[in-house]
Amino acid sequence: MKDKVRNIEDQNVIDYLEKAPKWIADNKAFTDWLTEKGFFRTSASTVHHGAYAGALYKHSDAVREVLEEYTELGLIDWDRPVSPFIIGMYHDLCKIDTYREEYDHYIEADDGTRFPKGDPHFVWDDAGVIIPGHAEKSLIYILQWIPLTSQEIACIRWHMGAFEKDPKMWEYYGRAIEQDSAVLYTHTADMVASRVKGI
Ligand SMILES: [Fe+2]
Ligand SMILES: [Fe+2]
Repeated sequence: MKDKVRNIEDQNVIDYLEKAPKWIADNKAFTDWLTEKGFFRTSASTVHHGAYAGALYKHSDAVREVLEEYTELGLIDWDRPVSPFIIGMYHDLCKIDTYREEYDHYIEADDGTRFPKGDPHFVWDDAGVIIPGHAEKSLIYILQWIPLTSQEIACIRWHMGAFEKDPKMWEYYGRAIEQDSAVLYTHTADMVASRVKGI
């Protein structure tokens, strides 16, 4: 018996491998790590946009897509062509270990095995987390697997834009935009995906 969320997860892995550049898709250990950590299965939030199974992947893919659109329009000058994929796909990697999947109902098989019934809801649970934070945490995770350009680091680090909680950070964010407008377009792509497209 395969639960509904497992189907969503499997579909997301297939979609990811189709869209990923070959050298990333061929890195099986990385895909296995993403899967094991729940990247293709978990939600993107508990109540806001993307509070459903598989939403973290869907949101990440939506940001990738918006960045690709901006690139086609000639708005962003990347240091390498793979940057929209890397930034979109991995900017919120920090969320992979922060939500717990819960179900209200279970079905019990003859042998006593319990299977979840219906849709899960996700609750914030960072009890097992050892690296706190948001954008910098995403960078720590992705840099285990892929060396990044300075431009990609800046875009992922500042993807929250002025939603950075600490006002002291705004000066650095402003400076990052002044140095490279790709930083601003990345934040905009994140907002378009989450607030305009609702993904
Ligand atoms: Fe984020
Ligand atoms: Fe995001």
